[in-house]
Amino acid sequence: MFLKDLASFPWTEKYRPKYLADISGQEHVVSKLKKYVEKKSLPNLLFAGPPGVGKTCCAVALANELFGEYYNQNFLELNASDERGIGVVRGAIKDFARTIPHNTSFKIIFLDEADSLTSEAQQALRRTMEKYTGTVRFILNANYSSKLISPIQSRCSLYKFRPLKKEDIVQRLKYIVSKEDVSISEDAITSINDISEGDARTAINILQSAASTSTNITVEDVYLVSNVAKPQEIVGLIESCLNKDFLKSRELLYKLLFDHGLSGEDVIIQIYKRIVSFPEEKLSLTKKIKIIDKIAEFNYRLVEGANDRLQLEALIANIMLINEK
Ligand SMILES: Nc1ncnc2c1ncn2[C@@H]1O[C@H](COP(=O)(O)OP(=O)(O)O)[C@@H](O)[C@H]1O
Ligand SMILES: [Mg+2]
Repeated sequence: MFLKDLASFPWTEKYRPKYLADISGQEHVVSKLKKYVEKKSLPNLLFAGPPGVGKTCCAVALANELFGEYYNQNFLELNASDERGIGVVRGAIKDFARTIPHNTSFKIIFLDEADSLTSEAQQALRRTMEKYTGTVRFILNANYSSKLISPIQSRCSLYKFRPLKKEDIVQRLKYIVSKEDVSISEDAITSINDISEGDARTAINILQSAASTSTNITVEDVYLVSNVAKPQEIVGLIESCLNKDFLKSRELLYKLLFDHGLSGEDVIIQIYKRIVSFPEEKLSLTKKIKIIDKIAEFNYRLVEGANDRLQLEALIANIMLINEK
């Protein structure tokens, strides 16, 4: 499996959309970006939103459509967290900004993870943005736009990216499957979508891992390669807690931790998600709230480095106690 993984280029890159028309979802963003291409003019942009939803894809496709064969000379992609802070602004950005655009009136600097810049670096970036307004456009990428200083925010048009919809993820996965030598069941596609929570990068990575273990991908394959338990397994664990069956609950928990090799944090987050959506006739809202409060406490302990097995057993015990009252 490992050799095959190393040999195959990541599908996330292989199937990175080259044109705006190939981008799934994010219609509100894509339609505006197309207008910039038509007019051949661009303000500074700020792309905000969760990972894996097409922020980098949009920047790359936009530059590709604007610059065509002059893409390499006019587009610079940088990651602010690579060199942490001021170095990247003083070095690479200034060097690139200084040179004249090729066969176009402006160049684009795409700065990924701009929200990880220190405020000192952001001030330097702001000055660079001002100095080169004539010839350089910035596209800043951030998970949280609020982490950017306001003079930068006010110099950019803000575009908010959203998690992708089920139909968009499904369509993208089916497209990739049609190009590769694999087949996949409808259920398996649905489970990849459930696990990915609107993140296409995660979805495509799961698909590729599953394809490296099987050419006919089933739900089982999907759960085998992702660090997520099947929803029924988590629901089963919660139900046996609610039925006060401590030994069975413990057995189910061990299965998740030791057979599936999930981390304590993986398990606790999934318990949380299932508790939230648990039917109210089986678990009252008051009890739910108390359990969520406990989950948060135990999650904190795990993050601080406490023992996975012990903490999860204690959480199970707590769910039982809360249900008893
Ligand atoms: N909207 C989308 N349409 C098509 N593919 C996408 C989309 N969003 C993400 N992807 C896929 O996921 C990968 C990561 O997307 P990317 O744009 O880098 O995410 P981010 O929002 O974190 O910048 C891409 O290489 C592409 O294969
Ligand atoms: Mg990105």
